[in-house]
Amino acid sequence: MVKKIGWTIIATTLLTLLTMCSTESRNIVQGELWLDTAGNPINAHGSGMLYHNGVYYWYGEYKKGETILPEWATWECYRTDVTGVSCYSSTDLYNWTFEGIVLGAVTDDPSHDLHPSKVLERPKVVYNAKTHKFVMWAHVESADYSKAAAGVAVSDSPTGPFTYLGSFRPNDAMSRDQTLFVDDDGKAYQFASSEHNATMYINELTDDYLQPTGRYTRNFIDMSREAPAVFKKDGKYYMISSGCTGWDPNQAQLAVADSIMGEWSIIGDPCTGTNADKTFYAQSTYVQQVHGKKDLYIAMFDRWNKTDLEDSRYVWLPIEFDNDQITIPWREEWSLDDFE
Ligand code: DGJ
Repeated sequence: MVKKIGWTIIATTLLTLLTMCSTESRNIVQGELWLDTAGNPINAHGSGMLYHNGVYYWYGEYKKGETILPEWATWECYRTDVTGVSCYSSTDLYNWTFEGIVLGAVTDDPSHDLHPSKVLERPKVVYNAKTHKFVMWAHVESADYSKAAAGVAVSDSPTGPFTYLGSFRPNDAMSRDQTLFVDDDGKAYQFASSEHNATMYINELTDDYLQPTGRYTRNFIDMSREAPAVFKKDGKYYMISSGCTGWDPNQAQLAVADSIMGEWSIIGDPCTGTNADKTFYAQSTYVQQVHGKKDLYIAMFDRWNKTDLEDSRYVWLPIEFDNDQITIPWREEWSLDDFE
């Protein structure tokens, strides 16, 4: 009897270990359904990432429920109700644990920026080493995309909850697709598609990262760039962006600057290989450097499914640096282990 119970325990333990191994992923496969550690699809679109104390936090639009095209629509403004900003955590960039909705919708006040009837896009979170706060900026919109404002929220923890502080147009200019960038000296900047998405504003932020200082530059004037993803390497600043075609894919562009607020020079389309001219049927959202690797920067893209936005997928690709040549070659599947 005792022998039988012993074998049952061993068999159950082995089975549990096997199940754990099979759900643990060690590859990034483009456009595949990517499940979190609880087995649910990762729902974090238009995302940004934060690396803090050895953990990566992936924040994004939690696009839950039906996608509709409003009956008054004069363009393809497909939308889901605002449900909030999600957060996932990982130490290996493959296996992500859902940390919950860290900034939730406000359902009882139709005039609130976070009411389900509004639009909440491209949340980005940075850590302020002076105030010890986690600061989130996002694009907050009316359903018809006429508000064009930035919403700011703050938290004591990377996993929230975030307290919403309100919205405004930075430097009195429209602010739609946006990202945040913190420089090595601790100064932070917001990049935002402005002037009806024609021109990219770079807004310097106050030391607490909660407001613009009033110092800003207008960049890529009349070039209609969206989806900015900014990173720094070897003292130079880089920005990947998309063109402006709603939820439909277009050609990516890489630009470089010696100074964060410009002048920016256009390098060209960094994507190479199958469907490169359509950014592999995806759109830029963020670039994350991988810690513990020599020069590994992951370019993160959204592959939008405009008629079912919740089912939009992710395309993550390593950026290749070959002296002055910077490319993002297509790879159907890859592993972090491929890089030193
Ligand atoms: C393109 C932007 O990059 C997205 O964030 C979203 O605003 C869509 N346009 C809406 O069509």
